[in-house]
Amino acid sequence: MYLTLSKRFEFAASARMQNPDWSPEENGAYYGAAAGHQYGIGNNYTAYFIFHGPVDPATGMMINVSVIKERVGAILNQRWDHKFLNVDTLPFNRVPPTPENIARILLLETQAAFDDSSAKPVAVHLEVTPLTSATAYLDGTFERSFWIEFSAARRTCSPHLSDDENEQLFGVASSKMGHGHNYRLRATVTGRVDPDRGLLVPYQERCSALNDLRAMLDHKNLNEEVAELKGWPITTESLAHFCYEHLSNRLPMVRVRLFETSWFFAEYDRDSRTRAGVLREFHASHRLHDPKLTDEANRALYGKCNNPSGHGHRYRVEATVDGEFDKRSGVLADLNWLYESVGNTLEPWGFKHLDAEIDDFRERTSTGENIVSILWPKLDAALAGRLYRLRLWETENNRFTLRKDI
Ligand code: NI
Repeated sequence: MYLTLSKRFEFAASARMQNPDWSPEENGAYYGAAAGHQYGIGNNYTAYFIFHGPVDPATGMMINVSVIKERVGAILNQRWDHKFLNVDTLPFNRVPPTPENIARILLLETQAAFDDSSAKPVAVHLEVTPLTSATAYLDGTFERSFWIEFSAARRTCSPHLSDDENEQLFGVASSKMGHGHNYRLRATVTGRVDPDRGLLVPYQERCSALNDLRAMLDHKNLNEEVAELKGWPITTESLAHFCYEHLSNRLPMVRVRLFETSWFFAEYDRDSRTRAGVLREFHASHRLHDPKLTDEANRALYGKCNNPSGHGHRYRVEATVDGEFDKRSGVLADLNWLYESVGNTLEPWGFKHLDAEIDDFRERTSTGENIVSILWPKLDAALAGRLYRLRLWETENNRFTLRKDI
């Protein structure tokens, strides 16, 4: 089990992407519309700083989020926020401030700031726009993600099953009249990056691969009109696999995630693993307070989360399962089973005060770290031991992730 805490920050900056040794055409092919521009292009960046370390059983915390706020906030204020990166923020006077390079430098700076901490930054995830992001990891590898959207009609069914079997398995979604979705696909590439160039994949290369896939699927009937899909079960798990196969011929892919709706997705990765996940929410109040400590010590430790009358959140939970993917039906997990199992597990916590009303939190205060670790065995049992990754957003700023296999 591997626990991470992700803390979200924003900063605004301008950045110029240009290799002085290249022609304007070469720069354009590599950096796209961001190339050139004497004064840089402006961006509102969202940066997620991801920490890993042991949880202190006494406080229920891996690290006090206010310490992250203070130290990372100071770094961003000093060098990053409201700057022209090429001029104000070294080393971007010599290397281009691409998303990959920015994430890498932020990770280096944050590492130095948490030398004395048992929780260490392990990755920085930089969202440049809602359609693209870059992640830098400690081992020197990078990921870059690109989102595309497409609308398509389909009948959920497998050509390897009879009509009766399809109806039994997929219910109304197997209707021969079809139905439709606005799909959102996140394609993630991986590798190492030459800092002087700064991108995992040149702009033109990734655009043409992604545009070709979108053109193949957008505004099509997936069962009838897409020759490449002949013989594939038309399920979201199977479509994720198809998109991965298609893109991996041209890009150094590591995984795709395909959202069928805002609350259901399937993933396929380079180890040929299929996964499926659902997002659900619950409303709860809570108060971080340790009765063994003085009021003053509690305030110092938990800050405003110690408010005596409590406070609350609309918690968001993302549960992802793995398991045996059935190639014949194209199904990894029955969607209703997945959705209901997560909902039923969360149900007793909904509209309650976690610390005052729920036995699970009598001995352990309801920090995000404790909530995910208390929720994991319950959810895993409800999901037949197939839980792979569990995420909890306390707010958009604070996310806790527990995963099985690192
Ligand atoms: Ni809270």
